[in-house]
Amino acid sequence: MKTDRLLDEIKSKVDIVEFISDYVPLKKSGQNYKGLCPFHSEKTPSFMVSQSKQIFHCFGCGAGGDLISFLMKHDNLTFGEAIRYIAKKAGINLKDFKFDKNNTSEKREKLIQANEEAIKFYSRNLADSETAKTYLKKRGIAEESILSFRIGYANDERDGLFRHMKKMGYSDSLIKDAGLIVADGRGYRDLFRKRIIFPIYNLQNDAIAFGGRVTDDSLPKYINSPETGVFKKSESLFAISLSKEAIRKKGLAIIVEGYLDAIICHQYGFKNTVAPLGTALTPMHLRRLKLVARKVILIFDADEAGIAAARRSLSTLAELDFRSKVMLLPRGEDPDSFLRKHGNKTFKKMLAEAMSMVEFLLKTSKGDKIDNVRETLGIISAMQDLIIADEMLNELSDRSKINEAVLREELKKIKKNLKLSSHAIEMKPVGTQINREECILLSAIISFPEKADDVLSRLVIEDLTDANIRSILRKIEAVKDNLNISTLLEKADEKERALITELSFNPGFDPEHVEKNINDCLNILRQRKFEEKRKIAEEYGDISLLDSLLKEKRRLIKKER
Ligand code: CTP
Ligand code: MN
Repeated sequence: MKTDRLLDEIKSKVDIVEFISDYVPLKKSGQNYKGLCPFHSEKTPSFMVSQSKQIFHCFGCGAGGDLISFLMKHDNLTFGEAIRYIAKKAGINLKDFKFDKNNTSEKREKLIQANEEAIKFYSRNLADSETAKTYLKKRGIAEESILSFRIGYANDERDGLFRHMKKMGYSDSLIKDAGLIVADGRGYRDLFRKRIIFPIYNLQNDAIAFGGRVTDDSLPKYINSPETGVFKKSESLFAISLSKEAIRKKGLAIIVEGYLDAIICHQYGFKNTVAPLGTALTPMHLRRLKLVARKVILIFDADEAGIAAARRSLSTLAELDFRSKVMLLPRGEDPDSFLRKHGNKTFKKMLAEAMSMVEFLLKTSKGDKIDNVRETLGIISAMQDLIIADEMLNELSDRSKINEAVLREELKKIKKNLKLSSHAIEMKPVGTQINREECILLSAIISFPEKADDVLSRLVIEDLTDANIRSILRKIEAVKDNLNISTLLEKADEKERALITELSFNPGFDPEHVEKNINDCLNILRQRKFEEKRKIAEEYGDISLLDSLLKEKRRLIKKER
């Protein structure tokens, strides 16, 4: 079991609090750390990380697990990908370790492979289509860009891609799962028809989805692949795989709005450009981006919609400690049209003169100066990085001519209010939905693994009512000799993990009296079982069963004394 050795190595070298801090700002709270959950949207932190147990749990959405399950969930990775990533980051040499492949990673690879096949198909179509080639030429897209972005074309055939994929040996269900076809009453047809195709890749350069643009005025102008096992629209950035090196080198990403904008920026030499897929920037986008850069320049049209979009993005950027600037283009222009009109020198100069976040917020707000300053302070208060926050405060004071000490006081007030509104973690009382006694027994084993043997020997797992608890206990039984949270979490599925981590943070019994708690619960369960049997026996008039039950009860009572 080479994976086991690697897991031990990872766990000995990587601390979950440090690791998660790169993704979620964490604050110490009692023995634990807490922060805003990255897996659901919330204003009050209910995401807890335990350093001593090396686990996390969100009391809002129930997500929970260890370091590896965190990264798998966060970055949508397979187990193998996650440990590879963490190992690399921790400087562990992977050469000695072999990986066990599981089903999900095979499925993932198949989806990516199917997308790769589709890219080849679409590129051949492009070479054969005069309409498509003429359109791209008209849009000023160079041959070199067509090759590097692997731009393709879906012609107007009903199911050309579908038939091709089947011929290549892909199953209907896989082609469907890759989002390449849709059912339309007459069977399956291709999703993309009569559209220029832009393949979308992830940071690791896997083909995960497509965007398709019409070549005329028909609507909708763009469609995207649906969400699939490898694609989430709100997390994906177009051109990220092609730009990541340039972004890393410059420490800076340029963020534009559209496919064409990103392609033309690259073509004009701005190779650190990415674009979200028609959505606002999300924290998920930025967590990905943060792996390669901490600075961004947003480019927007100077109209009202553009300014509003930039403001929204800035506060998301601030929350994730990015240093951001904004470059506004003349009304009605986007980077694509602007670059082709004015060339890259002008563009470069404008980039160099992009407004800082503070300048942009002060200059473009509709309110008066005081409102603007307050809004800016609000955004600064969300930053976790105090050095960047301080630099901005300086600038805010310079630009607004308001005394820095006053701003600092005000900032303190805002932060205090934030803390007050997010003080307590809401804890669901353990066992509200599930059987309380069963829950406490499981909880006792999780907190005191050395008691597992004893509890399990006094319990009939099949008699328990909660299926989740039953399956966790069976897994505990299987690893009994080597039981700890971490081995248990590895064996658990997502639902089981949620309960295990919840009970780790919130055991729901008094650890000083664990023995008594265990005994009480076992007795209650036994009595309940007994009552059940008695009822059945009575119902069926089964005298001999009633008799044996009575004897059993007497035996139990004796034992307890
Ligand atoms: N978008 C979309 N669906 C639409 C329109 C737009 O998903 N119906 C997304 C696309 O990612 C698009 C981005 O929003 O690239 C910006 O839209 P827009 O500015 O309208 O298009 P451009 O990218 O500028 O494309 P073009 O220049 O070809 O009109
Ligand atoms: Mn455009």
